Amino acid sequence: MTQILTLRRPDDWHLHLRDGAMLAAVLPETTRHFGRAIIMPNLVPPVVTSAQAAAYRARILAAGDGRFEPLMTLYLTEESDPEDIAAAHASGLITAVKLYPAGATTNSSSGVANFDNVRACLEKMAEIGLPLCVHGEVVDADVDIFDREAVFIDRVLDPIRRATPGLRVVMEHITTSDGVDYVKSSDSGDLGATITTHHLVINRNHILVGGIKPHYYCLPVAKRESHRLALRVAATSGDARFFLGTDSAPHTDPNKESACGCAGCFTATNTMSILAEVFEQDGALERLEAFTSRNGPAFYRLPVNEDSITLSRGEAVIYPDKIETEDGAVTVFDPGFPLHWRVSN
Ligand code: DOR
Ligand code: ZN
Repeated sequence: MTQILTLRRPDDWHLHLRDGAMLAAVLPETTRHFGRAIIMPNLVPPVVTSAQAAAYRARILAAGDGRFEPLMTLYLTEESDPEDIAAAHASGLITAVKLYPAGATTNSSSGVANFDNVRACLEKMAEIGLPLCVHGEVVDADVDIFDREAVFIDRVLDPIRRATPGLRVVMEHITTSDGVDYVKSSDSGDLGATITTHHLVINRNHILVGGIKPHYYCLPVAKRESHRLALRVAATSGDARFFLGTDSAPHTDPNKESACGCAGCFTATNTMSILAEVFEQDGALERLEAFTSRNGPAFYRLPVNEDSITLSRGEAVIYPDKIETEDGAVTVFDPGFPLHWRVSN
């Protein structure tokens, strides 16, 4: 059995870093292992303009380790300016634009309600090859929360892609076999998907059986077991259309353990150990590097990282239950099984 695994340094193609004290506390948890990350713009207020993205990037760099590269995104609103987006792309400031349907998740109230109102932006992005990262859930009250991803594909995503040839789309944090199948239906190179660590590990029973487990609640919510298994097959297949986006999303414990708890799993700390365990369980360790370090850069047309990390297998590795921040404690995702892969830089 392999005991040492060397991978090109991984990247995280979907990450929430927040701001201020929370940023300072969670950033090292990512930079310890990851070279780059796509930074989600759902701050309060959101990162809508290139000026806001430049200022946020400077705050991340100031809190960083000098090596980590934040890949910035703009939050798409119905008022977004196609020329501002194009200029931010041309200057190298942004790597993608993020589409949140209004009301879909944490801090998404400025998101898009009428997709006709972002047509000009999407057309400009198709023209310049700037990827759109999509939170793929409809928010209609009559659609069951477990169906929101599948309905989004039919009602929103597929029509947008047909109307906007050449638009490059990342379906973020897919949670269903419908998402997997939709991504696999396109071999144009214009459609990819991120998969989180936690959606490879938990299904909806983990949230609801034996008492409600707020630290397993995230959006899109974990689905039934057959969907988790479809995600496992996609992630471990080596298929270049699937890559890691942890969606590591810190909330303090009081905000999670509440009558109306926030969505998000905080996985930055132990993601690489969990993924190594998952890929080992599925006999796919030799394809871990594709998922964490190669497929993402290929989609985003960036080079893979120059340096590497090493994972070694041994005695069970213990991670802290929580990390402390000035805002309060943040619970680290518990995969529910022992971890044996330790990461060294
Ligand atoms: O679980 C989630 N948490 N899903 C999201 O889409 C947003 C994120 C957050 O910002 O907390
Ligand atoms: Zn997210």
